[in-house]
Amino acid sequence: MKKTPLIKTGLPGPRAKKLIKLDKTYVSPSYTRVYPLVAEKAEGLWVYDVDGNVFLDFTAGIAVNATGHCHPQVVKAIQTQAGKLLHMSGTDFYYTPQILLAEKLTSLAPGKGKKRVYFGNSGAEAVEAAFKLARWHTKRELNIAFFGGFHGRTMGALSLTASKTVQKKYYNPFVPGITHIPYAYCYRCAYNLSYPQCELFCVRWVEDTLFRTTMPPEEVAAIFVEPIQGEGGYIVPPPEFHQEMHKIARKYGILYVADEVQSGMGRTGKMFAMEHFGVEADIFALAKGIASGLPLGAMISSAEIMNWEAGSHASTFGGNPLSCQAAMATIDLLEKKLMKNASEQGRRLMEGLCHLQKIYVCMGDVRGKGLMVGVELVKDRETKLPAADWRAQIIKKTFEKGLLLLGCGENSIRFCPALNVTSAEIDTCLSIFEEAVNQIVG
Ligand SMILES: Cc1ncc(COP(=O)(O)O)c(C=O)c1O
Repeated sequence: MKKTPLIKTGLPGPRAKKLIKLDKTYVSPSYTRVYPLVAEKAEGLWVYDVDGNVFLDFTAGIAVNATGHCHPQVVKAIQTQAGKLLHMSGTDFYYTPQILLAEKLTSLAPGKGKKRVYFGNSGAEAVEAAFKLARWHTKRELNIAFFGGFHGRTMGALSLTASKTVQKKYYNPFVPGITHIPYAYCYRCAYNLSYPQCELFCVRWVEDTLFRTTMPPEEVAAIFVEPIQGEGGYIVPPPEFHQEMHKIARKYGILYVADEVQSGMGRTGKMFAMEHFGVEADIFALAKGIASGLPLGAMISSAEIMNWEAGSHASTFGGNPLSCQAAMATIDLLEKKLMKNASEQGRRLMEGLCHLQKIYVCMGDVRGKGLMVGVELVKDRETKLPAADWRAQIIKKTFEKGLLLLGCGENSIRFCPALNVTSAEIDTCLSIFEEAVNQIVG
């Protein structure tokens, strides 16, 4: 029988209400909960709240539960490891899961030659490590990142982030030497040009203007870029964007750092999203989906680049044995079936949303790769006036109907379910989403 969401209380239900009251008393108010979901347990794509309501999860805990909630193979790997060794600190000691995972990740990362892996606990730590390694290796002080880019919230990563001012307000001064430039967000080109007639002006501008005026290229350590912008709005750049930007980086000895924290680990139908663009980045940052929900960040580069000395960077918990085993189980599942499923179901989701876009003019842009799909909502197709209020109302409405979605960018909705989503679950998501759009916007 087809499984559907089941909402049997008002939302939040009575137990959820009590817990949210406690949360508001004791937990940091810096978190951004957009609806009152209090999760109790979950399985596959289905989340059960503390009042017994059942939700279809198209957020995957912000693109983390790559293999679905509590995949038995992942749970078993964690349980087995938990009985053997919980922690020893890969910083000062050796243990098998970290070594074997490093070997596996280096075999998966694009690019020939010997590679190495640094382990941390999160996306921000993977980016932070990349930031430090780029400085250490090049001995250069300047860096380039992109408007709309999100790289995390520790001070180094936050200095690279240019997503929303609320994330940066009152935290100045940031790490100096970072210049933010426009991303290839063709739906809203910063230069008011159209692709492909623009001939990638946004890339040429770096060499023709930036490097000739304010930024000596020989002082630039790295370009930090998301293959597909995540928090910025699930923005897919034109196919040759990364290749052209990468060429400029090569020309001046600048490292190309691919932040694959959200787009990596099979989400787009390829293990690394950069593979869609045919670019072998110098450094890759991974986290989120890598361990299906256990905290893990990884930074991968060639052995030649990762030549820093003992003591130059480390983390007590980074590459924890449980997380490493969860990652090995995750990768096994991705390689055997789920990456292929991400491509296939991603196509179904995209086709469904493109069909709805023909009916609902508020769906200004539908874009994505694999199961990293975004819908940008606008008040009017011509003016493209952002419809942030409709976005918020639609997400709230789908929640009330038992579908979990999240926003991204100023006015977009992201669809990032687990990679083992089924056709039936895609169809359920599409029909609830349509009902919500219809009821909110008409
Ligand atoms: C592309 C990207 N980089 C870095 C991060 C930071 O990851 P974390 O929240 O695990 O520190 C995120 C989180 O959303 C991200 O999407």
